[in-house]
Amino acid sequence: MFRHVSVNDLLDYKKQSKKWLMLTSYDSLTSSLFDELEIPVILVGDSAGQLVFGHDSTVPVTMEEMLPIVGGVARANEHSLIVADMPFGSYQPSNELAIENATKFLKVGAHAVKLEGGQRVANTISVLVEAGIPVMGHIGLTPQSVNVFGGYKVQGKGEQAQSLLQDAKAIEAAGAFSVVLEAIPKTLAKEITNSISIPTIGIGAGPDTDAQVIVWQDLLGLTPGPKPKFVKNYLNMRKLMTKSVLDFKNDVENGSFPDEDHSYS
Ligand code: KIV
Repeated sequence: MFRHVSVNDLLDYKKQSKKWLMLTSYDSLTSSLFDELEIPVILVGDSAGQLVFGHDSTVPVTMEEMLPIVGGVARANEHSLIVADMPFGSYQPSNELAIENATKFLKVGAHAVKLEGGQRVANTISVLVEAGIPVMGHIGLTPQSVNVFGGYKVQGKGEQAQSLLQDAKAIEAAGAFSVVLEAIPKTLAKEITNSISIPTIGIGAGPDTDAQVIVWQDLLGLTPGPKPKFVKNYLNMRKLMTKSVLDFKNDVENGSFPDEDHSYS
């Protein structure tokens, strides 16, 4: 890859039935590593709320918190398409505010923004796209609405399924270049994927979406506590880090670090 991945590349991948992935990143080191590994899309997710800033949900996340991390991720990465998550309250009040905030993300290096919601945000999506700002949609379990859902629950079961399909179609019609499907039954994800021409990116949405997204700390086993059903740990990073930090602590406490090899003479 010599140039950064574009939204048109992703539309082409769908036409070619080529599967791809999106990883989250919140810092320059993971961003540069994922760039080297040719991960086509990086999401600077508002999951930074829990993972970076210690909030208990994404609801408190602000533009002031997101902007510097989007900048850090973008500056460290030459090839991936960088998508910035618009925090709760940064796009709902008015389309003017949505344009103002999305523009701030593009100014610090993002190539696109993501916002949550279906038909209710379709007009905002079209206004942003009209202003030259590529938009990724996000439906199903939209964490910014956790207080409406009453918890992090699977969405789109029973009668809700049709409404989610309509949401996906509304997002496509509004001009979004892709849509995240979070925590919905796999049959519904497949139906949505086959019904729209823009790529679907699944997280807890089964195997039939065009792409998959995962929070990198979940992928690599750094996140503590019980994990959602859809998370597969490819590494137990928490265990490895625990051992290494304890080894270092032990070496410092017993005086074996620093040794000759790690000291200047
Ligand atoms: O904020 C985030 O990390 C996300 C992904 C999980 C899709 O929205």
